[in-house]
Amino acid sequence: MHPFLDPGPAILAEAAEVVTYPPDRPLDEASIRQAADGCVGIVSQLMDPIRETVLSTPGLKCVSNVAVGFDNIDIAAATAHKVYVTNTPGVLDDATADFAFTLLMTTARRVVEADNFVRSGRFRGWAIDMMLGQDVFGATLGIVGIGRIGRGVAHRAKGFNMRVLYYDPQPLPPDAEESLNVTRSSLERLIAESDFISVHVPLTEQTHHLVSKPQFQAMKRNAILINTSRGPVVDEAALVEALNARLLAGAGMDVYEREPAVHPGLIPLPNVVLAPHIASATVRTRSEMSAMAARNMATSVRGGRPPNLVNPQVKR
Ligand code: DGY
Repeated sequence: MHPFLDPGPAILAEAAEVVTYPPDRPLDEASIRQAADGCVGIVSQLMDPIRETVLSTPGLKCVSNVAVGFDNIDIAAATAHKVYVTNTPGVLDDATADFAFTLLMTTARRVVEADNFVRSGRFRGWAIDMMLGQDVFGATLGIVGIGRIGRGVAHRAKGFNMRVLYYDPQPLPPDAEESLNVTRSSLERLIAESDFISVHVPLTEQTHHLVSKPQFQAMKRNAILINTSRGPVVDEAALVEALNARLLAGAGMDVYEREPAVHPGLIPLPNVVLAPHIASATVRTRSEMSAMAARNMATSVRGGRPPNLVNPQVKR
C-alpha cells in the first residue's frame, strides 16, 4: 500500500502485516506487480494501474481502492481472477460537491485572476468595468450525472436559486426531483441551455469524451464547464480549442485527461481555474476514505466478504 491517513494504518495493522509501496518505484504495472509479490491484498490509489499483470499475482485476494472511482482497475480481469475490488463510496460526496461549487464560483467570479491582480500590485483603484464575471444566483446549472455527488451539487444550487437541469440515463424518482428542484433533460438540451455545466459521471467507455467538440459548439457563449469527475470524460484538446475560439466563457478543472499532465494549452488561459485533483481533499474526508479502505481490506484478509464490493460477482 501507499501511505494513507489515520486511522487506516492502525485498522490494517490489526489484520495483516503491512508492506508500504517503495517510494522509489514508478507507478507502472510491472513495479506494482513486483511490490505485490507475496501479498494477499493491495491498498491502491486512483493513479495505480491495476490490470492483468497485477491481478494475476498468485495469492492476491483483494484490491482496496482509496477512492470512489475505480477506472484504474480492470474489473473484468479482477473478477476472472476472483479478486475482490472495493472502493470508498459516500464519504466523499459532500467534500466533492463543495469543491465543484467552489470551482464554479471561483471561475464565475474570476477569483484566481483577481488574486493574482492584487498580489502583482496592479490594483490601483475601483473601476466600473474591472474583472466582470458571471452571475451565479438564479443562473441555469446543468448537472451531467445525478449520482450522490451530482445530487449534492443540486442541493447546493438550491441555495443559489438556480434552475437545475440534469442528464442521466437513470432518472431520479419524482419525489427526489421535486425535493431537489431538478428537471431531467437530454444532454443536448442541458448543453444548450446551461450557464454552468458540472460533470459528475464515472469514467466508462460510454462517458469517455462525453463532453467534446459537438458539445462545445452547442454551448452558450457565457457557459462555464466544471469537471471534478475524471479527466477523460472531457476531451481536453477540444476544450482548449473551444476556449480559444470563445465557444464557452471558462472552465474549472480538478481532473485531467492524462493526469498529472495538464494540456499545455490550458496553462496560459486566465479564464480557466486548475486544481490538482483535490475535490475530496478535506481532513475528515480523506481520513474517512482511508479508514473505509482499511476496513474493506481487513475484512477480506480475515476471510470475510468486504463491504463496498464493486465486483459482487466474485463468489468464494
Ligand atoms: C475518487 O475518490 O474517485 C476521487 O477522484 C478522489 O477522491
